[in-house]
Amino acid sequence: MQNSDVFILAIESSCDDTAAAVLHNDNVLSNVVANQLIHAQYGGVVPELASRAHQQNIVPVIDAALRKANITKEQLSAIAFTQGPGLMGSLLVGSSFAKSMALALNIPLISVNHMHAHILAHFIDEEGFDKPNFPFLALTISGGHTQIVQVNDFFDMTIIGETTDDAVGEAFDKSAKILGLPYPGGPLVDKHAQLGNPKAFAFTKPKVPGLNFSFSGLKTAILYFVQKKKLENPDFISENMDDICASIQYTIVEILMDKLKLAVKETGIKQIAIGGGVSANSGIRKAIKDTEQKYGWKTYVPKFEYTTDNAAMIGIVGYQKFLSQQFETAAVVSKARIQF
Ligand code: KG4
Ligand code: ZN
Repeated sequence: MQNSDVFILAIESSCDDTAAAVLHNDNVLSNVVANQLIHAQYGGVVPELASRAHQQNIVPVIDAALRKANITKEQLSAIAFTQGPGLMGSLLVGSSFAKSMALALNIPLISVNHMHAHILAHFIDEEGFDKPNFPFLALTISGGHTQIVQVNDFFDMTIIGETTDDAVGEAFDKSAKILGLPYPGGPLVDKHAQLGNPKAFAFTKPKVPGLNFSFSGLKTAILYFVQKKKLENPDFISENMDDICASIQYTIVEILMDKLKLAVKETGIKQIAIGGGVSANSGIRKAIKDTEQKYGWKTYVPKFEYTTDNAAMIGIVGYQKFLSQQFETAAVVSKARIQF
C-alpha cells in the first residue's frame, strides 16, 4: 500500500465523550463526537454512567464517522484507539471495540496516548493552520491535565512542568460550581469573564517553584472569598458574576503565562502550541497571541473542534504510528495512568 493511501479509523473514549474519526493520511474526513449530557445533573463526570453511555454510543458514533467519511470498513488501513490516561471503564469500551474490529478486519491495531494526541493535533492538515516545527513547547490544558511539554519530535517529548494537584480545567469547573454554574463550568466562566472587569477582585497566585503548577489553593481562596462576601450581601454572586468570573480567569491565565514565560527562558524555545479543552478559553487564546508582538514568540492554537476531546487527534497520532509501523497485539491493555 502507498503511504498516500492510509485510512485510519480512530476511537476516543477516555472520559465523557464518545468520539470516532476517519483520516485519510493527515486529512480529517469525519470527526464525530457524542457528548454525554447525563453528567451535568451530578456536577461532574460519574465514571460508571460514562462507561455505560460509551457502550450505548460507540456503535452509532463509529457508524456515523464511516458514513460521513464515505468509506467502507474494508478500506481501512488500521484502527487507532486511546489507551490512556482516562477513566478505566470508559477506556475499556473503546479499546475492546477497537481490538475486535481490528481482529475482524485483520488490520493493524494502534494504541494512542491521549496527551500525545492533544499535542499532535497541531499536525492535522487544515487550511489556515500552520504546523509547528520541532522543537516546540506544548501547553496542554484540560479537565484532567496541565502540562508543559518539550516536543522534540513526534514521539520524543518530555514533560517539563505539570500540576501538583488540580488540573486547570478543574480550577475553572470547581470555581464555576462555587458560583452556582452548571457542569462543565469552564465555558460559562469564560462567557461571563468577557463581560467583566478582570481587575475587580484580586486572588493570590500560588507560589510553586520551577515549572510546576498548583490550582487547589486558588479554588479554596475563591470559596472563602465568596462565602465572606455573601455574609455581607446574599446577592453578591448574582450582582457580580461577570466581574468575579473575569477576575478568576485573569488569575488563571496569569498563572499559566508566568510558567510558560519561565519555560521559554529555561529552554530557549519560542515556538508555543496550546492544546486541550481549556485552550478554547478566550483569555488564554488572547494572552498567547499577544506574546507574538510582545516577545516574538510563534504560537499555534488549534482549530476549535480539535481542542476539546475528539478522535481526529487520536487519528493523527495513529497515522504517524502507522508510518513507523508501531502496532499492538490484542494483548495491549488500557491504562488509567500512562507515562510518555
Ligand atoms: O480536553 P477536554 O475536553 O477533556 C479532558 O481531557 O479533560 O477538556 C475539558 C475541560 C473542562 O474542564 C472544561 O470546563 C474546560 O475544558 N473548558 C474550558 C473552556 N472550554 C472548555 N475552560 C475554560 N474556558 C473555556 N472556554
Ligand atoms: Zn483531553
